[in-house]
This record gives sequence, structure tokens and C-alpha cells, in this order.
Amino acid sequence: MEGKHITVRFGEGCDYCRSHPEIERGRCPKCHTIWAVRDVSFQLFPGEILGIVGESGSGKSTLLRALYFDRPATSGEAHISLYHQGQVNILQASSQQKRYLRNHLMGMVYQNPMLGLRMGLSSGANVAEKLIAAGNRNAGEMIGRSQQLLRHVEIPVERMKEAPAVFSGGMQQRVQISKATANNPPILFLDEVTTGLDLSVQAKVLDLIRSIQKELGIAMMVVSHDLAVIRMMADRTMVMLGGRVVEEGLTDQILEDPIHEYTQTLVSSLL
Ligand SMILES: Nc1ncnc2c1ncn2[C@@H]1O[C@H](COP(=O)(O)OP(=O)(O)OP(=O)(O)O)[C@@H](O)[C@H]1O
Ligand SMILES: [Mg+2]
Ligand SMILES: [Zn+2]
Repeated sequence: MEGKHITVRFGEGCDYCRSHPEIERGRCPKCHTIWAVRDVSFQLFPGEILGIVGESGSGKSTLLRALYFDRPATSGEAHISLYHQGQVNILQASSQQKRYLRNHLMGMVYQNPMLGLRMGLSSGANVAEKLIAAGNRNAGEMIGRSQQLLRHVEIPVERMKEAPAVFSGGMQQRVQISKATANNPPILFLDEVTTGLDLSVQAKVLDLIRSIQKELGIAMMVVSHDLAVIRMMADRTMVMLGGRVVEEGLTDQILEDPIHEYTQTLVSSLL
């Protein structure tokens, strides 16, 4: 997947902010428009994990949501090489094309499980919903596949009938992961999956994600404000600040030799 010059703006913008790309925290002091994502370009190679790190409000979630069509991008392009040989700007695709892309080529794990799951339905039904969205109609097959997916994230089969509402935070995230990977998408977005979980639970969920990534070769964009998570997960990393990418490169390189002042502060807080 490739993103080119993606911008997501809340507000109309004015002459001042249009000509000042580096306004503080992406918020225009004159017209109060928020440039949540500003001119972001990136490449996500097959099977790699790209980390996105940055302070609260730097635009990480907004970028993922634009790529997953949860909210429209103001401008810019995104292409997936597996989709029409990368010739289609998916940000401008029809709603039917977007539905196909979401159901077959992408998965999303939300920071807030309330956004990714129906808390009142059974966990099995939550996973089956994604299978149905991709055109499955055979109930027996879907039950089998849902069982397999939930077992994969270590949810015991006898708890499949229970709703995520009665699960722990770590279990809810694991149900989200099984749902997001139900149709074997080549691309997975993960937004602060482990934020708010206990450290031990966090380590377990991160291990699980890594093993799924290795096994299925899924390319992932992993968003976190926590550099420790990024260090553990990401091959390459982009650092966002005020809606812009201020630094990017191999994760090890960024950690060893950060160039941008903001990244230096971030790295020193980790030591
Ligand atoms: N619907 C909206 N309307 C107006 N502003 C918005 C909207 N959604 C996001 N923003 C603004 O866009 C900016 C980026 O928000 P975003 O949620 O992408 O940040 P983030 O990096 O994910 O932060 P966090 O680490 O706290 O999750 C913020 O200034 C936010 O207030
Ligand atoms: Mg966020
Ligand atoms: Zn402005």
C-alpha cells in the first residue's frame, strides 16, 4: 500500500494556514481549522510492520481512519498493489469498491473495542459478521471458521457464545483481532491495541499479533503513542507531530539516532 500527500482537515482553512505547513499542533491560530493529517506520504510493503508514533492529537488515528474509510480524506491518494495493480486511488473509490476493500483487503483493530465490536452479540457472531460481509452464506462453515479464528487468539470455544461485553479488555482486543483477520486480509490497521491494558496482558496481545503477522504475512500499520510498543513491533517507523510526518526510517535507526527534536525527547523518555 502506498499513501501520497494525504490530508485530513477539519475546517475550511484560510490563507494563513494554507501557506504555513508547520502550524503548532496542526491547529490554525487564525481560523481554528485543524489539519489533523497534513501531506502524509508513506509506503507499506507486503508483510512488514510500519509503526506510527506521536503525541496525543498528532493525527495517528485520523490517518488510519481515512485509510479504512471511516472518515473521508480531504485530499491525497492511496493505492494497493493487489487492487487493480495499484491503479485506483482508493480514497476516491465508490462506496461499493470501498466495501469490497474493507471486507477483503483490510482489517481494523480499534483502540476502543466498542467501535470494533457489537458488545451485545456473541463473540462468534461478531466474527461471523465479518465473514458474512465478505459473502459467506454457509452457516456450518462459518461456525467452524469462527471457532478456528477465536481459538487462534486463545478464546476458548466454550466461550464463543458469550458477548464481548462480559470479557476482559485483553479478551475483547483478541476478539477484535480475530474479527479483523477473518477474511485473511493482506493489510491490517491496529490503533493503540494495548493501550489501557495491564503490562502482562499487553505483552501477551503483542506476542499474539506478532505471531499472526509471521504466520499469515500480513502487512500492518501499528499506531501507538508508546515507543516501547513500537520498538517491539515495528520494522520501520514514522513519527507524527501536528498532523505531519517529522521523521521516518528503520525503527532501530530512529531509536539509536533520532534526528528530529521531538523524536529525541520521545527516545530519551524511554531510556
Ligand atoms: N471529528 C473531528 N472533528 C474535529 N476535529 C477532530 C475530529 N477528529 C479528530 N480531530 C482532531 O484531529 C487531531 C488529530 O486527532 P487524532 O485522534 O487523529 O490524534 P491521535 O494521534 O490519534 O491522538 P491519540 O494518541 O490521543 O489517540 C486532533 O486535534 C483532534 O482533535
Ligand atoms: Mg488515536
Ligand atoms: Zn487558517
